[in-house]
Amino acid sequence: MLNFLLLLGGALLIALVAGQLVALVVGQTRALRAQAFSAQVGRDLLLTSLASARRAQRKADEAGAPWSGIRKFSVAKKVPDRGDACSFYLTPHDKKPLPPFKPGQYLTFELEIPGQKKKVIRCYSLSDRLNPDYYRVTIKRCPPSKPEHPAGLSSNFFHDHIQEGTILDVKAPGGHFFLDTSKEGPVVLISAGVGITPCLSMMNELIALGSKREIWWFFGCRNSADHIMKDHVVELAAKNENIRVHVCYSAPGPDDKEGVDYQHKGRVTVDLFKELLPSNNYDYFMCGPGPFMESITTALTAWGVPDDRVHFEAFGPASVKKKAAAPAATTADAAAAPAFKITFGKSNKVVAWDRAAANILEFATSQGVALPSGCCAGQCGTCVTAIRSGNVTYAQEPGSKPEPGTCLACVALPAGDLVLDA
Ligand SMILES: Cc1cc2nc3c(=O)[nH]c(=O)nc-3n(C[C@H](O)[C@H](O)[C@H](O)COP(=O)(O)OP(=O)(O)OC[C@H]3O[C@@H](n4cnc5c(N)ncnc54)[C@H](O)[C@@H]3O)c2cc1C
Ligand code: FES
Repeated sequence: MLNFLLLLGGALLIALVAGQLVALVVGQTRALRAQAFSAQVGRDLLLTSLASARRAQRKADEAGAPWSGIRKFSVAKKVPDRGDACSFYLTPHDKKPLPPFKPGQYLTFELEIPGQKKKVIRCYSLSDRLNPDYYRVTIKRCPPSKPEHPAGLSSNFFHDHIQEGTILDVKAPGGHFFLDTSKEGPVVLISAGVGITPCLSMMNELIALGSKREIWWFFGCRNSADHIMKDHVVELAAKNENIRVHVCYSAPGPDDKEGVDYQHKGRVTVDLFKELLPSNNYDYFMCGPGPFMESITTALTAWGVPDDRVHFEAFGPASVKKKAAAPAATTADAAAAPAFKITFGKSNKVVAWDRAAANILEFATSQGVALPSGCCAGQCGTCVTAIRSGNVTYAQEPGSKPEPGTCLACVALPAGDLVLDA
């Protein structure tokens, strides 16, 4: 009996140990399986997120996401035009798709020009609609402003040294002067000289979209020798009933025929609009030399066109005053306020702020303090200036955000006494 009990106890003990061993093995197997499962899940998740990142990248590439900083472009084609202008067709060196842009926007170039200590930064409007294969800019040679001054640095460099195959450093399209092609309202485009470029982009885009908007285009230049993109514009006017092109030659050449090469002798004026347009109820988009735009904007205001329907692009600091800055200069508060003291630290100049100045860049230039500039629209960042003390305001939020302690002089106004590192 004792033996039997001992045997039973032993058997029970063995069964218990065996059960525990089995439980341990099963438990470990489960744990290992769970580990393997979770590793698999981790791998799957990783693969899924990689795939979705790749998909997002592919999508961005297909749509052509805008790039930040510099992208390399090759000059695919260089086509000389009338009016000492030349078009440059640019293709991305990385062969990836081009991001879309709004017609009227521009590219910013950083040029390394021999003999210049720093990179030369200049903006050029996109002169065609978005084409999947290229961006196009059209650049006019800038002559010396006075015989003793050098000819324009960048424009002449483009004409003389940028050839097919040259690689250029380009910032993404930008700018606030553009046509909203989702709207249907009638528009008047007004351009003079090389100011034709953003309007060309607008016109080409509207035509490509099959827009039936009522479009008037007033273009002024001296004569047919200066008439940039003449054949293209004549052709698009002939083919599109909704587009009325009126060309004004201020000094027609001996072979220029009125009614053929041009429609009006003289300059583009608001009197001409009053004669031809059924009303003043249009959106006006304008680009040309400063005095030309100033005279047109003043006359449009006098004709009763609200400010928010007049859009313009200035091609440089000496051009039309930015309207956005006007309120600060004209309100009773501003007139009554004490004059701010502006100190240009490096130049050792302390001067009273001129309330008629459109921005700090313009004011600095008028005081003989040279600040670098590019777009003059708060986009390219070229005019960034360090502030030693004081604050600035922006009538319009700058497109490229300045670092704390600096300002974009081309769109900034002093908010009080200001000491600039300039
Ligand atoms: C948004 C935007 C879009 C633009 N789009 C176009 C476009 O589509 N096409 C186009 O052709 N241009 C365009 N421009 C103008 C372009 O950016 C340049 O300003 C233009 O090409 C002149 O640059 P530059 O380097 O050739 O001349 P700069 O070297 O800047 O010289 C300009 C003028 O200053 C004179 N000058 C030089 N030194 C002195 C001195 N010491 N004192 C006084 N005067 C001096 C020169 O003789 C010249 O007449 C655009 C500008 C902007 C801001
Ligand atoms: S000149 Fe381009 S941001 Fe001021």
